[in-house]
Amino acid sequence: MTDFTPQFSLQSEALNCEDSNVWAVSDRAHDLADKGEDVIFLCVGDPNFNTPEPILDFARARLGVGRTHYSPAAGEPVLRRAIADIESKVSPHPCNPDDVVVFPGGTNAIYAVLSCLLNPGEEIVIPEPMYIGYVPICDSLRLSVKRVACPAEQNFAFDVDSIKAAVTEETRVVMINTPVNPTGAMATPEQLRELAAFCRERNIWLVSDEMYSMITFARRHTSLRTAAESLDNIVVIDGLSKSHAMSGWRLGWAVARGPLVERLAAFAGATIFGCPQFIQEAAAFALEFDTYFVKQMRDAYERRRNLIVERIGKIPGLSCYSPDAGMFVMVNVSELASSGQVFAEALLEAERVSVLPGTPFGESAVNHVRLTLAADDSELSRALDRIERFVTCANRQAS
Ligand SMILES: Cc1ncc(COP(=O)(O)O)c(C=O)c1O
Repeated sequence: MTDFTPQFSLQSEALNCEDSNVWAVSDRAHDLADKGEDVIFLCVGDPNFNTPEPILDFARARLGVGRTHYSPAAGEPVLRRAIADIESKVSPHPCNPDDVVVFPGGTNAIYAVLSCLLNPGEEIVIPEPMYIGYVPICDSLRLSVKRVACPAEQNFAFDVDSIKAAVTEETRVVMINTPVNPTGAMATPEQLRELAAFCRERNIWLVSDEMYSMITFARRHTSLRTAAESLDNIVVIDGLSKSHAMSGWRLGWAVARGPLVERLAAFAGATIFGCPQFIQEAAAFALEFDTYFVKQMRDAYERRRNLIVERIGKIPGLSCYSPDAGMFVMVNVSELASSGQVFAEALLEAERVSVLPGTPFGESAVNHVRLTLAADDSELSRALDRIERFVTCANRQAS
């Protein structure tokens, strides 16, 4: 018998490429922890809270009554209604359950949306620093990604003019993220309105990933759907992973207009065939009765943000600005190291604190490391003590 030669699709080849060292520091940190070392992990974006008890109870009850069967491809009516109600509450544009498609997590919603909007080789414009998870999605769909820099010198602020300048005849989609992972930057309603009108004028889709919409501190989040005048070209993606500490439940959604919704539902039908019934019902419950728990978690993130910003501000050589939203603080290490990668590697070796280098988020974040707010206050304080000791030592050696 001759040897079997495996052959794969271009799509899977694109995902199989040798990954950069995005998670190298974190992998090394896990190796050290496995060997019994006391490592503090500040690299993950997974909420360190348990899913609130009433949501767990509700899910258990729905499991108990047999809600364990197939569900409609676009989502259970009760959840589509709950999502539509939330959208309608804050927006001048009423939202209908028919405008909503449910997916197993934000990642899958993004994948489905981009799959429905772009062909291989077509151009998508995305501001950076950007969420690392966009890269494999765009690679697998073989999209041409044009990154637009939001420079650190301007606190990574959302910049409509730069996005507009990047759009060409070739552009099919602009995808934004507000609030941004990793920077916490938020687009203002005026910026969203302006960008939406610009994209509409050019017959371009505007997709907004709003996964951190419920974790805001200084001011409330404004959805693209609320700000835009016309919704024809608008897609909003959100989910429960962050706001409700439900990352493992895999529950996200996309809100769009009729023709795209039909395609998204068909895509969901072909690829996932409906999300679990009991999870969708628990998600609807969470959205309707969540205010207390979401606020508690948001307050904790805000307190931790303040703690980090205050402590980092007192460490000579490090700096950061105070993010308005999200689950991360970006720390500028350019006075101490040639890059965030170098800093993160050295910090782990010297003090066993694992932070994420900024490089994979984009050029603008190369001199930064990302610290998560998803760690207890005491854990954060301990990590900041170690970071301070590491920097003091580095400063002493340099002088
Ligand atoms: C900006 C952003 N979008 C999407 C996602 C993916 O969300 P999910 O975990 O629901 O797939 C994440 C997760 O970290 C994120 O930070």
